[in-house]
Formats: sequence, C-alpha cells, structure tokens
Amino acid sequence: MDTKSRGHLRGREDSSERTVCCLLLTLIIGVCCVRALEMSTGKIPFLEAVNGSTVLLPCTYASCIGIKDLYFKWEFNDNGTMEMLADAVIPMDHVDPSKLTVYHERVNYVGSSKENNISILLWNVTFEDAGVYTCFGKNPKEKNKNHSAIFTLYVVEELKEVDNTLTKIIASCVGGFIAALMAFMLIKNLTLFVLAKIEEKNKECLVTSSGIDNTENGLSGSKTTPKKA
Ligand SMILES: *[C@@H]1O[C@H](CO)[C@@H](O)[C@H](O)[C@H]1NC(C)=O
Ligand SMILES: *[C@@H]1O[C@H](CO)[C@@H](O)[C@H](O)[C@H]1NC(C)=O
Ligand SMILES: *[C@@H]1O[C@H](CO)[C@@H](O)[C@H](O)[C@H]1NC(C)=O
Ligand SMILES: *[C@@H]1O[C@H](CO)[C@@H](O)[C@H](O)[C@H]1NC(C)=O
Ligand SMILES: *[C@@H]1O[C@H](CO)[C@@H](O)[C@H](O)[C@H]1NC(C)=O
Repeated sequence: MDTKSRGHLRGREDSSERTVCCLLLTLIIGVCCVRALEMSTGKIPFLEAVNGSTVLLPCTYASCIGIKDLYFKWEFNDNGTMEMLADAVIPMDHVDPSKLTVYHERVNYVGSSKENNISILLWNVTFEDAGVYTCFGKNPKEKNKNHSAIFTLYVVEELKEVDNTLTKIIASCVGGFIAALMAFMLIKNLTLFVLAKIEEKNKECLVTSSGIDNTENGLSGSKTTPKKA
C-alpha cells in the first residue's frame, strides 16, 4: 500500500518536474515546448534528385512528455493510394526500434533513436518515385493522436543548382549593376560627345549662319540691287 502510494507520488513529482522543465524551457528558449509528439522532415521538406541517385528522406520526432511504444511509419502517396515503405515501434526514448519492417526493396532504415532520427534512404531513384512521402508517428502516451510530416521528392534528369539560385541572382544583380553602370558611362560619354559635337556644330552653324547672314545680306543686297535697278 505504502510503496504504491509512494510510487504514485513519485509519478506525480515526475510529471510536475517535467512541467517545470517544460515551462523553464519555454521561458529560456522562448519557444513553446512541444508537449505533444512532433514529427519533422526538416526546414527544407523537399528535395530535387537525379534519377538513379540515392536520397535521404529525413524525419525526426520530438516530445517533451517522452515516448513509449512510439509507432512510426513511412508512406509514399502513389497517386492517391498510400504505399507503406517502412514501419516500427520505438519502445522508449533512445532505444532502437523493435518490429522494424521495410516493405520496399530500395529502402533502408538509417534512423538513430539516440538522435530521435527515423530517416530512411531510397536507393536508385526512378521518375515514378517522385511525389509526397509521409513520416507518420503515433505516441500511445497521448491518447493515440496522429502526427505526421511530409517530404516531397522531385526527380529530374539533370540537377539544376537550386542552392546557387541566390548566388546567381546576386551575381546577375551585380553583373546587371556593372553593366548598367557601364551603359550609363557609355551613354554619358556618348551624350557628352554628341553634345560636344552639337556645340561644335552650333559654333559651325553660328559661323555658317553668319555666313548665311552675309549671303542674306548679300542677297538682300542683291535683292536691293534689283530694287535699285
Ligand atoms: C535518367 O533518365 C534518363 C532519361 O530517361 C536516362 O537517359 C538516364 O540514363 C537515367 N540515368 C540514370 C542514372 O538512371
Ligand atoms: C493517377 O491518377 C489519375 C486519375 O486519378 C490517372 O489519370 C493517372 O494516369 C494516374 N497516374 C499514374 C502514374 O498512375
Ligand atoms: C542500384 O542500382 C545498382 C546498379 O543498377 C545496383 O547494383 C544496386 O543493387 C541497386 N541498389 C538497390 C538498393 O536496388
Ligand atoms: C538522420 O540520420 C541520417 C543518417 O545517419 C543523417 O544523414 C541525417 O543527417 C540525420 N538527420 C538529423 C536531422 O539528424
Ligand atoms: C490515425 O491513423 C490511423 C492509421 O494509422 C487511422 O486509422 C486513424 O483513423 C487515424 N486517427 C485520426 C484521429 O486521424
């Protein structure tokens, strides 16, 4: 009787300690502590891979209240029907999964319970492998609530360097700026040149116009001459 109630008390202490831990973590990190199970396929939940290559489908789990007999599975959404790739049960935190079953001949489980990592590898990717993969988790500790995260795989014939996009944008921006600067300088110089030419011409024009004036005078003179005549 005594030991039972003591155990019960200890359990309550444990949970209150956990609550304090959660609160502290929330306060310190400023991030809401995950009480419930949370599945994550990373900050960039998609990948572009070349056909024939091997890809890592990443997934991790987190749970502040801890896990017990966590059931997880990896599924591929094959045009509406969910194809099971692998599933297993993780008895508790940091314990390797039991009942690990891989249903796909090109899938390897590469997770590590020490790092809450339940990633899989998909070998020799084909164009048919492109699509949405779901990392699903269920922790019986939380009334069997379902949790999942998705990862999208794109399969291409040739890899376009996605990571260099920003660099390329910056480079093209800088290049564009330099080009614009050069164009500006060119246009400026050209304009100055043209302006100088125009000015020169204007001077010439002035000269010629004075010449014209002269001829006009001459003309008027000649005009006047017939008048006179
Ligand atoms: C990828 O697909 C292209 C086009 O179907 C094919 O020519 C190429 O051999 C494939 N590459 C690999 C590594 O399977
Ligand atoms: C996917 O489903 C659509 C209709 O539901 C069908 O037209 C299409 O052929 C299917 N694609 C594959 C690859 O099975
Ligand atoms: C991947 O393809 C290579 C060459 O086609 C083959 O030797 C290898 O066994 C394949 N791996 C898997 C896991 O299917
Ligand atoms: C999960 O494990 C795989 C294989 O060891 C590794 O490549 C990957 O980086 C790990 N992911 C995380 C988030 O630790
Ligand atoms: C949780 O997932 C299972 C399949 O693994 C499904 O049968 C069940 O309906 C789901 N429950 C909820 C609440 O979505």
